[in-house]
Amino acid sequence: MAKNNDELFKNVISHAKEYGFVFQSSEIYDGLSAVYDYGQLGAELKNNIKTYWWKAMVQMNENIVGIDSAIFMHPKIWKASGHVDGFNDPMIDNKDSKKRYRADQLLEDKISRYEKDGKTDKAEKLQHDMDEALKAEDLPRLKALIEEHEIVCPVSGTRNWTDVRQFNLMFSTQMGAMADGSDEVYLRPETAQGIFVNFLNVQKSGRMKIPFGIAQIGKAFRNEVIARQFIMRMREFEQMEMQFFVRPGTEMEWYKHWKETRLKWHLALGTSPDKYRFHDHSKLAHYANAAVDIEFEFPFGFKEVEGIHSRTDFDLSQHQEFSGKKMQFFDPEINQNYVPYVIETSIGLDRFFLLTLINSFEEQDLSTADKQDSRSVLHLHPALAPYKAAVLPLTKKDGLPEKAREIMNRLKLDFNMAYDEKDSIGKRYRRQDAIGTPFCITVDHQSLEDNTVTIRHRDSMEQERVAIDELENMIAKLVSWKNILS
Ligand code: GAP
Repeated sequence: MAKNNDELFKNVISHAKEYGFVFQSSEIYDGLSAVYDYGQLGAELKNNIKTYWWKAMVQMNENIVGIDSAIFMHPKIWKASGHVDGFNDPMIDNKDSKKRYRADQLLEDKISRYEKDGKTDKAEKLQHDMDEALKAEDLPRLKALIEEHEIVCPVSGTRNWTDVRQFNLMFSTQMGAMADGSDEVYLRPETAQGIFVNFLNVQKSGRMKIPFGIAQIGKAFRNEVIARQFIMRMREFEQMEMQFFVRPGTEMEWYKHWKETRLKWHLALGTSPDKYRFHDHSKLAHYANAAVDIEFEFPFGFKEVEGIHSRTDFDLSQHQEFSGKKMQFFDPEINQNYVPYVIETSIGLDRFFLLTLINSFEEQDLSTADKQDSRSVLHLHPALAPYKAAVLPLTKKDGLPEKAREIMNRLKLDFNMAYDEKDSIGKRYRRQDAIGTPFCITVDHQSLEDNTVTIRHRDSMEQERVAIDELENMIAKLVSWKNILS
């Protein structure tokens, strides 16, 4: 059982591997740094999270539609969006260890250490100085701060640093000849631009009227300098983004709306509100007039899971300028053409997946006076659980497996079901607890006589007798999206 947050996090990571949720990519070749694969249960959980987001954003809002744009896009898009020139991290190398670090991350780690040691004044001063240097993109000042605060390389232990340089986070690759002669294309670093460049297509083909939104779930790629904390910061990850197009001047009211709506989405799964907080950005990107992060308390502190940004008309105006195509909407209510303003909601699917695992994971001590006992359990919301129920014949004989198969075949048309007849019933219950299956259906000798089964509930471990004919309704009710979305 975990004694502290570090241990808890380690246990979650090994649990994720042991039960087929997340594996290191290319593991048999010693892995590929900051790239992960989702296993058989991870893929199910991830799909259920996507469904939850898609239903909440697209299905529940008549004025939001979803698209699926390509990962490769015209390279000019990234020039227009500012990613070619400005999507950089300041980095520094240690000449002895040859290790590369993000300069701001080294400073942030130092700030955390000052805070831990109760040196609040020093922490605040360094935070202020770092923010100023980042805002002014003053790279020599960042290096000076690293030196002044005597930050050493965690590997070599020395202070033998290079200068701080900007490092672009986009991956590029070559494609067959492009019209303008250049064949370099980028792997998209955000899904948002695929939405912006389809603004007119969707607006016209869907006869959308402002305000309306376009949502999308998809892969994004960033060559992160330091990747750490498991699937928290990856080089290949997934985003669930929505751009909401509004009339200029109304953006702050929509910003407030989406800030509240998105937090409600997080809390609807039953997570304690204490685990969440808003973090308003004091330093705004040049295109934003308001921005906030929704942060969750991970074992390593409060960290961003989702960003809500008021992006003004920056992106559409840039694409209008770079493509030469008008990115405007004629608003019949005010009889005017304008470039819409945009409120963006952007959540990292992998970060939310990690949040879900951490928040649901519990190592329970079930020991009694005469017996030591424990279990690992994932208290996943039933709508998110990979398996909705498991069918378990009490023994492998006397016709019980056949009866269990009958039930399985009936239920699997509607629900993702598990079937298990190996090991004792106690061990099988524990296995299902560990992967978050909300209910186990046990078929015993009485089932053959009266067509009833035992339902065993994951969280309370309570059992009840239920008619087989009732199972479908009962499970449907318990796993229904209605429990969260309405
Ligand atoms: N379109 C806006 C945008 O991309 P962002 O704050 O850079 O904004 C949005 O990213 C979300 O994507 C973050 O809140 C985070 O959850 C997720 N994210 C960003 N970089 C990530 C990475 N390297 N690995 C995993 N998730 C990441």
